[in-house]
Amino acid sequence: MADYAATRDRVEDYFDRSATKVWERLTSDAPVSRIRQTVREGRDKMRALMLSRLPADLHGARVLDAGCGAGQMTAELAARGATVVAVDISPALVKIAEARLAADHAPRVRFASGDMTADHGHFDYVLAMDSLIYYGTADITDALHRLGKRTDQAVIFTVAPKTALLMAFWSMGRLFPRADRSPTMVPHDFATLNDASGGRLAKIDRVSRGFYISECLEYRP
Ligand SMILES: C[S@@+](CC[C@H](N)C(=O)[O-])C[C@H]1O[C@@H](n2cnc3c(N)ncnc32)[C@H](O)[C@@H]1O
Repeated sequence: MADYAATRDRVEDYFDRSATKVWERLTSDAPVSRIRQTVREGRDKMRALMLSRLPADLHGARVLDAGCGAGQMTAELAARGATVVAVDISPALVKIAEARLAADHAPRVRFASGDMTADHGHFDYVLAMDSLIYYGTADITDALHRLGKRTDQAVIFTVAPKTALLMAFWSMGRLFPRADRSPTMVPHDFATLNDASGGRLAKIDRVSRGFYISECLEYRP
């Protein structure tokens, strides 16, 4: 829990202060560098993959967008008819997400600033796209249990897979003092995470596009 709170505080500081503008731009249609463009494309692919795990018509479904960021997933869920709670630890990003949401979808969406694992209600699905990537095995497992208790179908989330390339970035990042300020991704090995989660995980697919590498997993409560 101490680890979880410390990581979450670093993530909040990063998204709410240092990187709010960068994130706002990455999640818009504005031009970005070639490297960031690959990240944008990879993220679009991951969002589509995660959404493909849910029924196409979400009228009547309750979904938690856990770590909603600037609200890209929230907007798609609402467009498909879901009733959405969109929560993020960064109030600045929640404000952007709220401002971007189309007015006709707004009645189906409730925004909240705070911890995604707090009690936000009961859901059919929880989607946590790239919002648990900064946490270690014990923290992810705890978060899945807490979210799972309030979820009927599945918690669909992503982690950074333990690939040679990501491990190299990871150990390089740890050599720099900067790593104390910005959140570092923690690469995970599926078997280890699955054991820690009581064997309730399924591997869905991996998205690899330039500098974006992320793996979609599903937790069945
Ligand atoms: C890489 S961004 C992804 C945002 C969004 N899911 C998307 O894919 O566009 C990670 C987000 O997770 C949020 N986050 C991380 N840990 C959180 C926590 N414990 N509770 C709520 N939000 C959290 C961050 O503030 C940030 O907005």
